[in-house]
Amino acid sequence: MEAYPSVDDTALKRLMDDFHASIDVDRRLYRVDIRGSVAYARGLARIGMITPAECAAIETGLAEVEREIASGEYVLTHDLEDIHMAVEKRLIEKIGPTGGKLHTGRSRNDQIATDERLYLREVIDTTIDAIARCQMALLGLAERTVDVVFPGYTHLQQAQPIRFAHYALAVLFALERDKDRLRDCRKRVDVLPLGSGAMAGSAFPVDRAFLAAELGFHAVSPNSMDAVSDRDFIAEFLGVCSILMIHISRACEDIVIWSSAEFKYIRLHPRLATGSSIMPQKKNPDAAELLRGKSGRVIGDLVALLTVLKGLPHAYNKDMQEDKEPLFDAIDTVGVGLTVFEALWKTMEIREDQVAARMDDAMLATDLADYLTKCGVPFREGHGIVAALVDEALRRGCALRDLPSEVCRVFSPFLDEKAMKLLVFDESADRRAVPGGTARNAILGQIEQAKRLLAP
Ligand code: ARG
Repeated sequence: MEAYPSVDDTALKRLMDDFHASIDVDRRLYRVDIRGSVAYARGLARIGMITPAECAAIETGLAEVEREIASGEYVLTHDLEDIHMAVEKRLIEKIGPTGGKLHTGRSRNDQIATDERLYLREVIDTTIDAIARCQMALLGLAERTVDVVFPGYTHLQQAQPIRFAHYALAVLFALERDKDRLRDCRKRVDVLPLGSGAMAGSAFPVDRAFLAAELGFHAVSPNSMDAVSDRDFIAEFLGVCSILMIHISRACEDIVIWSSAEFKYIRLHPRLATGSSIMPQKKNPDAAELLRGKSGRVIGDLVALLTVLKGLPHAYNKDMQEDKEPLFDAIDTVGVGLTVFEALWKTMEIREDQVAARMDDAMLATDLADYLTKCGVPFREGHGIVAALVDEALRRGCALRDLPSEVCRVFSPFLDEKAMKLLVFDESADRRAVPGGTARNAILGQIEQAKRLLAP
């Protein structure tokens, strides 16, 4: 034996136990780990590697272990290293050496990949449901605000009048794409790695199609090296979550702006906005701000995982144990985030009087230019004429609609009283009647479309 420099062996053992233990993180996989093991035991029984009686003993033992972990009776300590070792150790303690047959032909490498896929598959389903609940809240808000005319912004400048429902639906349809991406990601999660062993494939003829059926996977991984190397499915999930959080963050930014004293368009439920510890007058939009901040965290989780994976040789490397913290962090952040996001929309008050008071009728300039076009003026010319008219109103410090008609006529003979009667916000909105537009009927059409998407 090599002569290592003398060290405190106990201290060194403790150092390493603590350092590489992942039990504090992966304990939440215990149910799926046990589920995978039950299927695997049945798979071993099918090929005669264990007897039906042994299989039954393993299944009963695993059910016991699951109960003990759930109740906290079995304390998961660092020396157990990870959830796989912890479950196996307790199983052997309970049913004796038969428990030691469970790991025949299996490796923690195909085991962890299987656990993560089982776990993530469920999470994807609950995330899709949580997004749908946000969409329902937005749909409710849209239905309430079809007739609330609101300034639409580009460059954070008032651009064109919209119906508030148009905005709520914009967020709703963006979330629909996030659900689509999750559904798509789920297809690639829903593949069985078990049977890949450490990397070269199991030396025992386990029936992988049977294992897949037992665990409800729609396919069996085609290559054992790839199966234990692959964490794409987690990177993909984190990527999808990052885009989702960016959608949430951008909407939260709208909320922060609109709830400010400068805008006063919306009021947040007092439970979602908190006071300042020093300034008694403050009602900060904390829920929206914090959600905006949490998006950075989820993007960080994605970058953390990609950085761990980059440059790893095939197949399994211990580095990959670091995949779970970003994954679970993102799952938790997105989970609570969606609940808060839903609550924001459900409880939001639109201050219609404040909105109306801040609507600048220069937003109707496009309508005038469009009108001139209908009178035969080429659009580019009409655009110039109306731009000059808007400047004139600005110079006079009045609204467009308050410009005297003789002044308007100087800019174009077509800008008569009839033309200036076009300067009505909801009529402007109703002129945008193309599918997807902000006209009342177009909005009702979008609401119907959204309802179809959200129908159970
Ligand atoms: N705890 C490990 C992980 O999460 C399980 C796989 C360990 N495999 C191994 N060969 N050490 O990645």
